[in-house]
Amino acid sequence: MSENFDALVLGGGIAGLSFALKFAPHGRVAVLTKRNRAEGSTNYAQGGIASVLAEDDSFESHVEDTLTAGAGLCRRDAVELCVRQGPARIRELVQLGARFSPGERGDEFDLGREGGHTRRRIVHAQDLTGREVERALLAACDDQGERIRFFEHHVAVDLILSDRRGGGHCVGAYVLDGRSGEVRTFLAPVTVLATGGSGKVYLYTTNPDVATGDGVAMAWRAGATVANMEFMQFHPTCLFHPQARNFLISEALRGEGGVLKLRSGATFMERYHPLRELAPRDIVARAIDAEMKRTGDDYVTLDMTHLPRAFLMERFPNIYATCREHGIDMAVQPIPVVPAAHYQSGGVDTDLAGRTDLPGLLAIGEVACTGLHGANRLASNSLLEGLVFAHEAAAAAREMLGASPAAVPDWDPGKAVDSDERVVVSHNWDEIRRLMWNYVGIVRTDKRLARARRRLELLRDEIRAYYWDHRLTADLVELRNIADVAALVVEGAARRGESRGLHYTLDHPQASPRAEETRLRRAR
Ligand code: FAD
Ligand code: SIN
Repeated sequence: MSENFDALVLGGGIAGLSFALKFAPHGRVAVLTKRNRAEGSTNYAQGGIASVLAEDDSFESHVEDTLTAGAGLCRRDAVELCVRQGPARIRELVQLGARFSPGERGDEFDLGREGGHTRRRIVHAQDLTGREVERALLAACDDQGERIRFFEHHVAVDLILSDRRGGGHCVGAYVLDGRSGEVRTFLAPVTVLATGGSGKVYLYTTNPDVATGDGVAMAWRAGATVANMEFMQFHPTCLFHPQARNFLISEALRGEGGVLKLRSGATFMERYHPLRELAPRDIVARAIDAEMKRTGDDYVTLDMTHLPRAFLMERFPNIYATCREHGIDMAVQPIPVVPAAHYQSGGVDTDLAGRTDLPGLLAIGEVACTGLHGANRLASNSLLEGLVFAHEAAAAAREMLGASPAAVPDWDPGKAVDSDERVVVSHNWDEIRRLMWNYVGIVRTDKRLARARRRLELLRDEIRAYYWDHRLTADLVELRNIADVAALVVEGAARRGESRGLHYTLDHPQASPRAEETRLRRAR
Protein backbone atom coordinates (compact mmCIF):
# COMPACT_ATOMS: atom_id res chain seq x y z
CA MET A 1 0.00 0.00 0.00
CA SER A 2 1.37 3.41 -0.89
CA GLU A 3 0.54 6.99 0.10
CA ASN A 4 0.07 9.02 -3.10
CA PHE A 5 0.52 12.78 -3.44
CA ASP A 6 1.28 15.32 -6.15
CA ALA A 7 4.41 16.49 -4.33
CA LEU A 8 6.40 14.72 -1.66
CA VAL A 9 8.43 17.23 0.35
CA LEU A 10 11.14 15.80 2.56
CA GLY A 11 11.80 18.46 5.19
CA GLY A 12 9.86 21.16 7.01
CA GLY A 13 12.37 24.04 7.27
CA ILE A 14 12.27 27.32 5.36
CA ALA A 15 12.79 25.58 2.00
CA GLY A 16 10.28 22.73 2.39
CA LEU A 17 7.51 24.85 3.90
CA SER A 18 7.94 27.69 1.40
CA PHE A 19 7.73 25.17 -1.43
CA ALA A 20 4.64 23.49 0.07
CA LEU A 21 2.84 26.82 0.37
CA LYS A 22 3.58 27.84 -3.20
CA PHE A 23 2.71 24.44 -4.66
CA ALA A 24 -0.45 23.78 -2.61
CA PRO A 25 -2.85 25.60 -4.99
CA HIS A 26 -1.77 23.15 -7.73
CA GLY A 27 -1.80 19.79 -5.97
CA ARG A 28 -1.78 17.77 -2.75
CA VAL A 29 1.42 17.98 -0.77
CA ALA A 30 2.93 15.71 1.89
CA VAL A 31 5.57 17.29 4.14
CA LEU A 32 7.67 14.75 6.03
CA THR A 33 9.84 15.65 9.00
CA LYS A 34 12.21 13.48 10.98
CA ARG A 35 11.22 14.78 14.40
CA ASN A 36 8.53 17.28 15.31
CA ARG A 37 7.74 19.54 12.41
CA ALA A 38 9.54 22.68 13.66
CA GLU A 39 12.82 20.90 14.39
CA GLY A 40 15.56 21.83 11.91
CA SER A 41 18.25 24.47 11.41
CA THR A 42 15.69 27.07 10.33
CA ASN A 43 14.21 27.12 13.80
CA TYR A 44 17.62 28.01 15.31
CA ALA A 45 18.69 30.67 12.83
CA GLN A 46 19.74 33.77 14.70
CA GLY A 47 21.35 36.52 12.59
CA GLY A 48 18.69 36.89 9.89
CA ILE A 49 18.07 37.08 6.16
CA ALA A 50 20.30 39.10 3.85
CA SER A 51 18.52 41.36 1.38
CA VAL A 52 18.84 44.74 -0.27
CA LEU A 53 16.30 46.91 1.56
CA ALA A 54 18.21 50.01 2.59
CA GLU A 55 18.32 53.13 0.43
CA ASP A 56 22.12 53.24 0.50
CA ASP A 57 22.37 49.60 -0.62
CA SER A 58 22.26 48.10 -4.11
CA PHE A 59 21.84 44.72 -5.80
CA GLU A 60 25.30 45.17 -7.29
CA SER A 61 26.83 45.50 -3.85
CA HIS A 62 25.10 42.38 -2.47
CA VAL A 63 26.11 40.46 -5.61
CA GLU A 64 29.72 41.62 -5.25
CA ASP A 65 29.90 40.68 -1.55
CA THR A 66 28.49 37.21 -2.32
CA LEU A 67 30.97 36.67 -5.17
CA THR A 68 33.89 37.83 -3.02
CA ALA A 69 33.02 35.44 -0.20
CA GLY A 70 32.49 32.62 -2.73
CA ALA A 71 36.16 32.88 -3.80
CA GLY A 72 35.68 32.49 -7.54
CA LEU A 73 33.29 29.55 -7.46
CA CYS A 74 29.82 31.15 -7.32
CA ARG A 75 27.56 30.72 -10.34
CA ARG A 76 26.80 34.30 -11.19
CA ASP A 77 23.27 33.61 -12.46
CA ALA A 78 22.30 31.99 -9.13
CA VAL A 79 23.72 34.96 -7.24
CA GLU A 80 21.85 37.49 -9.37
CA LEU A 81 18.62 35.51 -9.03
CA CYS A 82 18.78 35.33 -5.25
CA VAL A 83 19.87 38.89 -4.67
CA ARG A 84 17.30 40.43 -7.02
CA GLN A 85 14.39 38.33 -5.72
CA GLY A 86 15.31 38.90 -2.06
CA PRO A 87 13.11 41.92 -1.32
CA ALA A 88 10.01 40.33 -2.88
CA ARG A 89 10.45 37.07 -0.95
CA ILE A 90 10.96 38.95 2.35
CA ARG A 91 7.79 40.95 1.77
CA GLU A 92 5.90 37.71 1.16
CA LEU A 93 7.08 36.47 4.55
CA VAL A 94 5.81 39.69 6.12
CA GLN A 95 2.46 39.20 4.37
CA LEU A 96 2.29 35.68 5.80
CA GLY A 97 2.62 37.20 9.27
CA ALA A 98 6.37 37.07 10.04
CA ARG A 99 7.25 39.91 12.42
CA PHE A 100 10.76 41.30 11.96
CA SER A 101 12.45 43.87 14.22
CA PRO A 102 11.53 47.38 13.04
CA GLY A 103 14.09 50.16 12.54
CA GLU A 104 14.57 52.93 15.06
CA ARG A 105 13.34 55.90 13.03
CA GLY A 106 10.11 54.33 11.82
CA ASP A 107 11.93 52.25 9.19
CA GLU A 108 10.19 48.99 8.31
CA PHE A 109 13.23 46.87 9.23
CA ASP A 110 16.17 47.17 11.59
CA LEU A 111 19.01 46.03 9.31
CA GLY A 112 21.92 44.22 10.94
CA ARG A 113 25.47 43.75 9.66
CA GLU A 114 27.48 40.52 9.43
CA GLY A 115 30.86 39.35 8.19
CA GLY A 116 31.63 39.87 4.49
CA HIS A 117 28.74 42.34 3.99
CA THR A 118 29.79 45.86 3.10
CA ARG A 119 26.34 47.22 4.07
CA ARG A 120 23.73 46.75 6.78
CA ARG A 121 21.26 44.40 5.08
CA ILE A 122 20.27 41.64 7.51
CA VAL A 123 16.54 41.50 8.29
CA HIS A 124 16.03 39.87 11.68
CA ALA A 125 13.61 39.20 14.50
CA GLN A 126 15.88 40.09 17.43
CA ASP A 127 18.20 37.03 17.60
CA LEU A 128 15.36 34.54 17.04
CA THR A 129 14.82 35.08 13.33
CA GLY A 130 14.50 31.41 12.42
CA ARG A 131 11.93 30.69 15.08
CA GLU A 132 9.75 33.55 13.86
CA VAL A 133 10.05 32.50 10.20
CA GLU A 134 9.28 28.85 11.01
CA ARG A 135 6.29 29.89 13.13
CA ALA A 136 4.85 32.07 10.37
CA LEU A 137 5.37 29.42 7.66
CA LEU A 138 3.84 26.61 9.73
CA ALA A 139 0.78 28.75 10.54
CA ALA A 140 0.35 29.55 6.84
CA CYS A 141 0.64 25.84 5.93
CA ASP A 142 -2.01 24.98 8.51
CA ASP A 143 -4.33 27.48 6.83
CA GLN A 144 -4.15 25.31 3.69
CA GLY A 145 -6.08 22.52 5.42
CA GLU A 146 -5.92 19.11 3.74
CA ARG A 147 -3.86 20.40 0.80
CA ILE A 148 -0.72 20.19 2.95
CA ARG A 149 -0.45 17.10 5.16
CA PHE A 150 2.32 16.77 7.72
CA PHE A 151 3.90 13.46 8.65
CA GLU A 152 6.08 14.03 11.72
CA HIS A 153 8.63 11.47 12.94
CA HIS A 154 8.86 10.06 9.42
CA VAL A 155 12.41 9.42 8.23
CA ALA A 156 12.98 9.10 4.48
CA VAL A 157 15.31 6.14 3.99
CA ASP A 158 15.89 5.97 0.24
CA LEU A 159 14.53 7.45 -2.96
CA ILE A 160 12.53 5.12 -5.20
CA LEU A 161 13.51 4.92 -8.85
CA SER A 162 11.13 3.92 -11.65
CA ASP A 163 13.68 1.38 -12.84
CA ARG A 164 14.71 -0.71 -9.86
CA ARG A 165 17.99 -1.75 -11.49
CA GLY A 166 19.04 1.83 -10.90
CA GLY A 167 17.83 4.31 -13.45
CA GLY A 168 14.74 5.98 -14.81
CA HIS A 169 13.32 8.72 -12.64
CA CYS A 170 12.51 9.36 -9.03
CA VAL A 171 8.94 8.38 -8.09
CA GLY A 172 8.98 8.84 -4.32
CA ALA A 173 10.68 7.50 -1.21
CA TYR A 174 10.67 4.67 1.28
CA VAL A 175 10.03 6.18 4.68
CA LEU A 176 10.52 4.82 8.18
CA ASP A 177 7.65 5.67 10.50
CA GLY A 178 9.74 6.33 13.59
CA ARG A 179 6.89 5.52 15.94
CA SER A 180 5.67 2.18 14.53
CA GLY A 181 8.98 1.06 13.00
CA GLU A 182 7.17 0.29 9.72
CA VAL A 183 8.71 1.32 6.38
CA ARG A 184 6.03 2.99 4.24
CA THR A 185 5.97 3.84 0.54
CA PHE A 186 5.29 7.47 -0.45
CA LEU A 187 4.80 8.17 -4.17
CA ALA A 188 4.57 11.42 -6.13
CA PRO A 189 5.52 12.74 -9.59
CA VAL A 190 7.59 15.39 -7.78
CA THR A 191 9.91 14.58 -4.88
CA VAL A 192 11.54 17.56 -3.20
CA LEU A 193 14.62 17.18 -1.06
CA ALA A 194 14.53 19.93 1.58
CA THR A 195 16.37 17.96 4.23
CA GLY A 196 18.85 20.65 5.30
CA GLY A 197 22.54 20.20 6.02
CA SER A 198 25.03 17.81 7.52
CA GLY A 199 26.74 19.46 10.49
CA LYS A 200 26.34 16.25 12.50
CA VAL A 201 29.03 14.67 10.36
CA TYR A 202 31.40 16.62 12.64
CA LEU A 203 31.95 16.20 16.37
CA TYR A 204 31.36 19.87 17.15
CA THR A 205 28.58 21.64 15.32
CA THR A 206 26.01 24.40 15.68
CA ASN A 207 23.45 22.19 13.94
CA PRO A 208 20.51 20.38 15.51
CA ASP A 209 20.47 16.56 15.62
CA VAL A 210 18.40 16.21 12.44
CA ALA A 211 21.25 17.61 10.30
CA THR A 212 22.74 14.28 9.21
CA GLY A 213 22.99 14.93 5.48
CA ASP A 214 20.20 12.49 4.61
CA GLY A 215 19.22 14.29 1.42
CA VAL A 216 22.72 14.34 -0.05
CA ALA A 217 23.25 10.69 0.87
CA MET A 218 19.93 9.56 -0.63
CA ALA A 219 20.40 11.58 -3.80
CA TRP A 220 23.95 10.33 -4.30
CA ARG A 221 22.91 6.69 -3.75
CA ALA A 222 20.15 7.20 -6.34
CA GLY A 223 22.69 8.46 -8.89
CA ALA A 224 22.19 12.24 -8.73
CA THR A 225 25.26 14.48 -8.97
CA VAL A 226 26.52 16.18 -5.83
CA ALA A 227 28.88 19.14 -5.96
CA ASN A 228 31.42 21.01 -3.82
CA MET A 229 31.00 18.87 -0.70
CA GLU A 230 34.46 19.80 0.55
CA PHE A 231 33.24 23.29 1.44
CA MET A 232 31.95 22.78 4.97
CA GLN A 233 31.61 26.12 6.68
CA PHE A 234 32.84 26.41 10.27
CA HIS A 235 31.14 29.18 12.21
CA PRO A 236 33.76 31.09 14.19
CA THR A 237 31.74 31.54 17.37
CA CYS A 238 29.94 28.69 19.07
CA LEU A 239 29.55 29.03 22.87
CA PHE A 240 32.31 27.17 24.71
CA HIS A 241 30.78 25.66 27.82
CA PRO A 242 30.60 22.02 28.95
CA GLN A 243 26.81 22.16 29.38
CA ALA A 244 25.96 24.19 26.29
CA ARG A 245 25.43 21.91 23.36
CA ASN A 246 25.63 23.45 19.89
CA PHE A 247 24.73 26.98 20.98
CA LEU A 248 25.59 29.61 18.39
CA ILE A 249 26.82 33.09 19.27
CA SER A 250 25.55 34.99 16.26
CA GLU A 251 27.81 36.85 13.88
CA ALA A 252 25.41 39.76 14.41
CA LEU A 253 27.29 40.38 17.67
CA ARG A 254 30.41 41.14 15.71
CA GLY A 255 28.19 43.28 13.46
CA GLU A 256 27.48 45.38 16.56
CA GLY A 257 31.17 45.82 17.31
CA GLY A 258 32.00 42.60 19.22
CA VAL A 259 35.77 42.12 19.55
CA LEU A 260 37.54 38.75 19.45
CA LYS A 261 40.26 38.38 22.08
CA LEU A 262 42.65 35.80 23.39
CA ARG A 263 42.20 34.64 26.98
CA SER A 264 45.01 37.04 27.85
CA GLY A 265 42.80 39.89 26.67
CA ALA A 266 44.90 40.65 23.54
CA THR A 267 43.11 41.23 20.23
CA PHE A 268 44.31 39.33 17.14
CA MET A 269 42.04 39.80 14.10
CA GLU A 270 44.04 42.88 12.98
CA ARG A 271 46.85 40.44 12.12
CA TYR A 272 44.61 38.44 9.76
CA HIS A 273 42.38 40.76 7.71
CA PRO A 274 41.69 44.48 7.24
CA LEU A 275 38.00 43.88 8.04
CA ARG A 276 39.09 42.29 11.34
CA GLU A 277 36.05 40.69 13.08
CA LEU A 278 33.89 41.29 10.01
CA ALA A 279 36.13 39.44 7.56
CA PRO A 280 34.45 36.52 5.74
CA ARG A 281 33.75 33.56 7.99
CA ASP A 282 36.44 31.21 6.64
CA ILE A 283 39.12 33.76 7.50
CA VAL A 284 37.81 34.42 11.02
CA ALA A 285 37.39 30.70 11.79
CA ARG A 286 40.92 29.91 10.54
CA ALA A 287 42.36 32.80 12.54
CA ILE A 288 40.74 31.52 15.75
CA ASP A 289 41.90 27.98 15.00
CA ALA A 290 45.47 29.20 14.44
CA GLU A 291 45.46 31.28 17.65
CA MET A 292 44.07 28.39 19.71
CA LYS A 293 46.80 26.11 18.34
CA ARG A 294 49.49 28.74 18.95
CA THR A 295 48.48 29.55 22.52
CA GLY A 296 47.21 26.08 23.52
CA ASP A 297 44.02 27.70 24.84
CA ASP A 298 40.71 25.82 24.57
CA TYR A 299 38.82 28.90 23.43
CA VAL A 300 39.00 32.59 22.55
CA THR A 301 36.52 35.21 23.73
CA LEU A 302 34.05 37.60 22.16
CA ASP A 303 33.87 40.85 24.06
CA MET A 304 30.57 42.76 24.00
CA THR A 305 31.13 44.75 27.16
CA HIS A 306 31.33 48.04 25.23
CA LEU A 307 27.53 47.92 24.80
CA PRO A 308 24.94 48.83 27.44
CA ARG A 309 23.12 45.96 29.14
CA ALA A 310 19.71 47.27 28.02
CA PHE A 311 20.78 47.17 24.35
CA LEU A 312 22.17 43.62 24.66
CA MET A 313 18.97 42.40 26.31
CA GLU A 314 16.75 43.98 23.66
CA ARG A 315 18.82 43.10 20.57
CA PHE A 316 20.02 39.62 21.65
CA PRO A 317 17.51 38.32 24.21
CA ASN A 318 18.12 34.64 23.42
CA ILE A 319 21.92 34.84 23.54
CA TYR A 320 21.85 37.06 26.63
CA ALA A 321 19.55 34.65 28.50
CA THR A 322 21.43 31.51 27.41
CA CYS A 323 24.77 32.99 28.49
CA ARG A 324 23.21 33.96 31.82
CA GLU A 325 21.92 30.38 32.28
CA HIS A 326 25.52 29.25 31.92
CA GLY A 327 26.86 31.78 34.39
CA ILE A 328 28.15 34.29 31.82
CA ASP A 329 27.04 37.91 32.06
CA MET A 330 27.88 39.22 28.60
CA ALA A 331 27.39 42.83 29.68
CA VAL A 332 30.46 42.63 31.91
CA GLN A 333 32.33 39.45 30.81
CA PRO A 334 33.68 38.32 27.44
CA ILE A 335 31.91 35.20 26.05
CA PRO A 336 34.09 32.07 25.58
CA VAL A 337 33.74 30.85 21.96
CA VAL A 338 35.14 28.20 19.60
CA PRO A 339 34.55 27.41 15.90
CA ALA A 340 32.15 24.58 14.99
CA ALA A 341 30.81 22.97 11.81
CA HIS A 342 27.89 25.09 10.68
CA TYR A 343 26.86 24.97 7.05
CA GLN A 344 27.17 22.64 4.06
CA SER A 345 27.96 24.96 1.17
CA GLY A 346 27.90 22.17 -1.44
CA GLY A 347 25.13 19.64 -1.93
CA VAL A 348 22.91 18.06 -4.55
CA ASP A 349 23.69 19.82 -7.80
CA THR A 350 20.74 21.79 -9.20
CA ASP A 351 19.83 24.27 -11.89
CA LEU A 352 18.16 27.62 -11.23
CA ALA A 353 14.79 25.94 -10.56
CA GLY A 354 16.05 23.34 -8.10
CA ARG A 355 16.03 20.55 -10.72
CA THR A 356 18.62 17.84 -10.13
CA ASP A 357 19.93 15.59 -12.89
CA LEU A 358 17.63 12.82 -11.64
CA PRO A 359 14.24 13.45 -13.32
CA GLY A 360 11.42 13.77 -10.77
CA LEU A 361 13.77 15.02 -8.07
CA LEU A 362 14.15 18.63 -6.94
CA ALA A 363 16.51 19.87 -4.21
CA ILE A 364 16.18 23.19 -2.35
CA GLY A 365 17.64 24.83 0.73
CA GLU A 366 20.84 23.73 2.42
CA VAL A 367 20.76 20.26 0.84
CA ALA A 368 21.22 21.81 -2.61
CA CYS A 369 24.23 23.18 -4.42
CA THR A 370 22.67 25.94 -6.51
CA GLY A 371 25.90 27.81 -7.11
CA LEU A 372 24.97 30.73 -4.84
CA HIS A 373 27.66 30.08 -2.23
CA GLY A 374 30.62 28.90 -4.29
CA ALA A 375 33.54 28.07 -2.01
CA ASN A 376 32.18 29.95 1.01
CA ARG A 377 28.69 31.09 1.94
CA LEU A 378 28.16 34.73 2.82
CA ALA A 379 26.42 35.15 6.19
CA SER A 380 22.62 35.13 6.13
CA ASN A 381 22.45 34.17 2.46
CA SER A 382 21.09 30.69 3.16
CA LEU A 383 17.64 31.57 4.47
CA LEU A 384 17.43 33.82 1.42
CA GLU A 385 18.42 30.94 -0.86
CA GLY A 386 15.78 28.69 0.74
CA LEU A 387 13.05 31.23 -0.02
CA VAL A 388 14.12 32.02 -3.57
CA PHE A 389 14.74 28.47 -4.75
CA ALA A 390 11.50 27.20 -3.16
CA HIS A 391 9.69 29.83 -5.22
CA GLU A 392 11.44 28.79 -8.43
CA ALA A 393 11.09 25.07 -7.73
CA ALA A 394 7.34 25.35 -7.10
CA ALA A 395 6.95 26.78 -10.60
CA ALA A 396 9.10 23.99 -12.07
CA ALA A 397 7.13 21.35 -10.14
CA ARG A 398 3.87 22.41 -11.75
CA GLU A 399 5.34 21.36 -15.09
CA MET A 400 6.15 17.92 -13.73
CA LEU A 401 2.59 16.93 -12.79
CA GLY A 402 0.48 14.48 -14.73
CA ALA A 403 2.27 11.14 -14.49
CA SER A 404 0.15 8.44 -12.83
CA PRO A 405 1.60 6.77 -9.73
CA ALA A 406 4.26 4.19 -10.50
CA ALA A 407 3.75 0.55 -9.49
CA VAL A 408 6.52 -0.14 -7.00
CA PRO A 409 6.97 -3.00 -4.57
CA ASP A 410 6.71 -2.41 -0.83
CA TRP A 411 9.92 -2.20 1.19
CA ASP A 412 11.48 -5.64 1.55
CA PRO A 413 13.05 -6.10 5.00
CA GLY A 414 14.67 -9.37 3.80
CA LYS A 415 15.98 -11.47 6.66
CA ALA A 416 16.70 -8.47 8.89
CA VAL A 417 16.41 -9.09 12.61
CA ASP A 418 16.23 -6.71 15.57
CA SER A 419 19.66 -5.50 16.61
CA ASP A 420 20.96 -6.79 19.91
CA GLU A 421 24.05 -4.56 19.69
CA ARG A 422 22.86 -0.97 19.42
CA VAL A 423 26.19 0.11 20.85
CA VAL A 424 27.81 -0.66 17.46
CA VAL A 425 25.76 2.14 15.95
CA SER A 426 26.71 4.70 18.59
CA HIS A 427 30.41 3.72 18.44
CA ASN A 428 30.50 4.13 14.68
CA TRP A 429 28.65 7.45 14.90
CA ASP A 430 31.20 8.72 17.36
CA GLU A 431 34.17 7.47 15.39
CA ILE A 432 33.07 9.10 12.14
CA ARG A 433 32.32 12.46 13.75
CA ARG A 434 35.60 12.47 15.62
CA LEU A 435 37.74 11.50 12.62
CA MET A 436 36.05 14.15 10.48
CA TRP A 437 36.80 16.77 13.14
CA ASN A 438 40.41 15.68 13.51
CA TYR A 439 41.36 14.98 9.90
CA VAL A 440 38.91 16.92 7.70
CA GLY A 441 38.43 20.08 9.77
CA ILE A 442 39.31 23.74 9.32
CA VAL A 443 42.89 23.01 8.20
CA ARG A 444 43.57 19.90 6.11
CA THR A 445 46.55 18.03 4.68
CA ASP A 446 46.89 15.27 2.07
CA LYS A 447 48.03 12.85 4.76
CA ARG A 448 45.08 13.56 7.07
CA LEU A 449 42.64 13.18 4.18
CA ALA A 450 44.20 9.83 3.20
CA ARG A 451 43.91 8.67 6.81
CA ALA A 452 40.25 9.71 6.95
CA ARG A 453 39.53 7.96 3.67
CA ARG A 454 41.06 4.65 4.83
CA ARG A 455 39.13 4.67 8.09
CA LEU A 456 35.88 5.60 6.38
CA GLU A 457 36.24 2.74 3.90
CA LEU A 458 36.41 0.23 6.76
CA LEU A 459 33.57 1.82 8.65
CA ARG A 460 31.34 1.96 5.59
CA ASP A 461 31.95 -1.76 4.88
CA GLU A 462 30.96 -2.56 8.43
CA ILE A 463 27.90 -0.31 8.30
CA ARG A 464 26.77 -1.82 4.98
CA ALA A 465 26.84 -5.33 6.43
CA TYR A 466 25.12 -4.26 9.63
CA TYR A 467 22.53 -2.26 7.69
CA TRP A 468 21.09 -5.13 5.68
CA ASP A 469 21.20 -7.63 8.55
CA HIS A 470 19.22 -5.56 11.04
CA ARG A 471 15.78 -4.03 11.15
CA LEU A 472 15.88 -0.30 10.39
CA THR A 473 15.96 2.29 13.11
CA ALA A 474 16.31 6.06 12.68
CA ASP A 475 19.81 5.87 14.21
CA LEU A 476 20.92 3.26 11.71
CA VAL A 477 19.53 5.23 8.77
CA GLU A 478 21.39 8.33 9.96
CA LEU A 479 24.61 6.41 10.58
CA ARG A 480 24.65 5.15 7.00
CA ASN A 481 24.00 8.70 5.80
CA ILE A 482 26.71 10.44 7.82
CA ALA A 483 29.18 7.79 6.63
CA ASP A 484 28.25 8.40 2.98
CA VAL A 485 28.36 12.17 3.38
CA ALA A 486 31.69 12.04 5.22
CA ALA A 487 33.12 10.02 2.32
CA LEU A 488 31.83 12.61 -0.17
CA VAL A 489 33.43 15.46 1.81
CA VAL A 490 36.74 13.59 1.89
CA GLU A 491 36.53 12.74 -1.81
CA GLY A 492 35.79 16.37 -2.72
CA ALA A 493 38.62 17.59 -0.51
CA ALA A 494 41.08 15.04 -1.88
CA ARG A 495 40.31 16.04 -5.47
CA ARG A 496 40.77 19.76 -4.83
CA GLY A 497 44.51 20.24 -5.19
CA GLU A 498 44.44 23.84 -3.94
CA SER A 499 43.20 26.02 -1.09
CA ARG A 500 40.06 28.00 -1.85
CA GLY A 501 37.39 29.50 0.39
CA LEU A 502 36.44 27.01 3.09
CA HIS A 503 38.85 24.33 1.90
CA TYR A 504 42.30 25.08 3.24
CA THR A 505 45.17 22.60 3.01
CA LEU A 506 48.75 23.06 4.19
CA ASP A 507 50.00 21.02 1.23
CA HIS A 508 48.53 23.33 -1.42
CA PRO A 509 48.13 26.70 0.31
CA GLN A 510 47.44 28.75 -2.85
CA ALA A 511 44.34 28.88 -5.05
CA SER A 512 44.81 27.57 -8.60
CA PRO A 513 44.40 30.11 -11.40
CA ARG A 514 41.25 28.29 -12.58
CA ALA A 515 38.30 27.80 -10.25
CA GLU A 516 36.47 24.54 -10.83
CA GLU A 517 33.58 22.84 -9.07
CA THR A 518 33.93 19.29 -7.77
CA ARG A 519 31.17 17.08 -9.13
CA LEU A 520 30.71 13.55 -7.80
CA ARG A 521 28.31 11.02 -9.20
CA ARG A 522 27.81 7.35 -8.52
CA ALA A 523 27.39 5.15 -11.58
CA ARG A 524 23.69 4.28 -11.97
P1 FAD B 1 16.24 22.81 7.77
O1 FAD B 1 15.62 24.01 8.31
O2 FAD B 1 17.45 22.29 8.44
O3 FAD B 1 15.14 21.67 7.78
C1 FAD B 1 15.46 20.35 7.43
C2 FAD B 1 14.21 19.52 7.52
O4 FAD B 1 14.44 18.26 6.90
C3 FAD B 1 13.75 19.21 8.93
O5 FAD B 1 12.35 19.33 8.96
C4 FAD B 1 14.14 17.75 9.12
O6 FAD B 1 13.32 17.04 10.02
C5 FAD B 1 13.95 17.24 7.72
N1 FAD B 1 14.68 16.01 7.39
C6 FAD B 1 16.01 15.80 7.38
N2 FAD B 1 16.29 14.54 7.00
C7 FAD B 1 15.08 13.94 6.77
C8 FAD B 1 14.69 12.64 6.39
N3 FAD B 1 15.59 11.67 6.14
N4 FAD B 1 13.38 12.37 6.27
C9 FAD B 1 12.44 13.33 6.52
N5 FAD B 1 12.75 14.59 6.88
C10 FAD B 1 14.07 14.88 7.01
N6 FAD B 1 21.27 31.05 7.84
C11 FAD B 1 20.95 32.32 7.55
O7 FAD B 1 20.75 32.66 6.38
N7 FAD B 1 20.81 33.22 8.56
C12 FAD B 1 20.99 32.92 9.87
O8 FAD B 1 20.83 33.75 10.73
C13 FAD B 1 21.36 31.58 10.18
N8 FAD B 1 21.59 31.21 11.47
C14 FAD B 1 21.83 29.89 11.75
C15 FAD B 1 21.97 29.51 13.07
C16 FAD B 1 22.13 28.17 13.39
C17 FAD B 1 22.29 27.76 14.83
C18 FAD B 1 22.18 27.21 12.36
C19 FAD B 1 22.36 25.76 12.68
C20 FAD B 1 22.08 27.60 11.03
C21 FAD B 1 21.90 28.93 10.71
N9 FAD B 1 21.78 29.35 9.40
C22 FAD B 1 21.46 30.66 9.11
C23 FAD B 1 21.70 28.38 8.32
C24 FAD B 1 20.21 28.16 7.99
O9 FAD B 1 19.47 28.20 9.19
C25 FAD B 1 19.97 26.84 7.30
O10 FAD B 1 20.83 26.72 6.21
C26 FAD B 1 18.54 26.78 6.77
O11 FAD B 1 17.63 27.03 7.81
C27 FAD B 1 18.28 25.44 6.14
O12 FAD B 1 16.91 25.37 5.83
P2 FAD B 1 16.36 24.08 5.14
O13 FAD B 1 14.91 24.31 4.92
O14 FAD B 1 17.20 23.73 3.99
O15 FAD B 1 16.59 22.91 6.23
C1 SIN C 1 24.68 33.86 12.65
O1 SIN C 1 23.71 34.39 13.19
O2 SIN C 1 25.86 34.09 12.92
C2 SIN C 1 24.42 32.84 11.60
C3 SIN C 1 24.23 33.51 10.34
C4 SIN C 1 24.38 32.53 9.22
O3 SIN C 1 24.72 31.37 9.42
O4 SIN C 1 24.17 32.97 8.09
